[in-house]
Amino acid sequence: MWGGRFAHGPSAIMREINASIPFDKALWRQDIMASKAHVAMLGAKGIVTSEDAALIAAGLDRVAAEFEADGVPEDWALEDIHMTVEHRLAELIGPVAGRLHTARSRNDQVATDFRLWVRDAIDDADRGLMALQTALVTRAGEHADSIMPGFTHLQTAQPVTLGHHLMAYYEMCDRDRSRFAAARARLDECPLGSAALAGTGFPIDRDATARALGFARPTANSLDAVSDRDFALDYLAAASQCALHLSRLAEELILWASQPFGFIALPDALSTGSSIMPQKKNPDAAELVRGHAGRIVGCQMALTMTMKGLPLAYSKDMQDDKPPVFEAAGLLALSLAAMAGMIDGARFDTGRMRQAAEMGHATATDLADWLVSEAGLPFREAHHITGQAVRRAEEQGVALDQLTLATLQEIDPRINERVFAALSVDASVAARDCYGGTAPRQVRDRVAEARTKLEIEP
Ligand code: ARG
Repeated sequence: MWGGRFAHGPSAIMREINASIPFDKALWRQDIMASKAHVAMLGAKGIVTSEDAALIAAGLDRVAAEFEADGVPEDWALEDIHMTVEHRLAELIGPVAGRLHTARSRNDQVATDFRLWVRDAIDDADRGLMALQTALVTRAGEHADSIMPGFTHLQTAQPVTLGHHLMAYYEMCDRDRSRFAAARARLDECPLGSAALAGTGFPIDRDATARALGFARPTANSLDAVSDRDFALDYLAAASQCALHLSRLAEELILWASQPFGFIALPDALSTGSSIMPQKKNPDAAELVRGHAGRIVGCQMALTMTMKGLPLAYSKDMQDDKPPVFEAAGLLALSLAAMAGMIDGARFDTGRMRQAAEMGHATATDLADWLVSEAGLPFREAHHITGQAVRRAEEQGVALDQLTLATLQEIDPRINERVFAALSVDASVAARDCYGGTAPRQVRDRVAEARTKLEIEP
């Protein structure tokens, strides 16, 4: 393809280090789609005759049909997917295939193909996130009233509802989706026609190719268009953030499925056994989601470092842009699917969760709040008195709400029997009825809003 100026062919090492076909063959659909848009435009503009354009388009369809049926051949001598497609086209339709590369370069070609691929990956991530959100919202609706301990520092803090806890992840997923959507909006420009780096002298119609490929407009600077990969980095940044959220949820499922917690049983279909300990049921899927987050962030870092310090315009370093994006996309899709399946199929032991919420004096803040609103104390003083009550409960080895009224009044005589109504875990969650709070009423409202947004039937 470039042999004209060379006396010797590339060494085996050169061929191997240069070949991207082992991974960029994943771009074959995008490559053929972009070539079809390009040749249709060349024909319409009279840059190639309409007969040649039609021959080339039909040939590209044949190549696509072959690749669909038999896969993409991997010949290192052809370097990459662009040359692989063009080579097969030439075998099928003869020298007229050579007209396809008029007014373009592999540089704008790969930038276009890769944008198309990343655009699909973004849409995929959005679908995966929606499926997870649907699972979260469904389970949250079932458990708007189920009480569990809420933690800070992984120490029992205040009772919360399981629905509220699950809806926290719904919100994270929502922001993840908006990050992907923002990446998609910025990606929405077509590099085709930027050619090698400077544009082309042929009278091309860049609006036509942009439109044909579903982009909002052509890119405005050819140097930028062939050498920028921030659309891929935007995608990886969104994927990393999403993976971090998934790994936190995974960690919670792992903890909750452990025997000391006993909050959930994960579905058999997403668990594994042990080859030596017959009783074991391991949360491997959740652990792998947690682990994959590290790899996805690693992919983001890999491409970040590849792009650092590259002068304009294209350098071959940029061929290394694809493996981390492909890897991250595969890992993310699996992680999202596994997580949706685990949330869907988890059995929540609400009795056990409630029991745990009743331990650890989780309603101590409610006692302090009661002293403020019923006895008119400043919160700091109420906090101090409550601390003394907790200490007394610890000394007696009982829960805070099991202290007798006499004991509480010894600590502060302003306490009366009405306090006990505030100390139950149910009263505690019901009281947190501010917008965004854990009260069942709030959770039901948020779930209803989310279902509307997700267009889930009532
Ligand atoms: N396989 C190459 C890549 O992915 C295509 C672009 C080649 N361009 C070049 N000037 N050698 O980056």
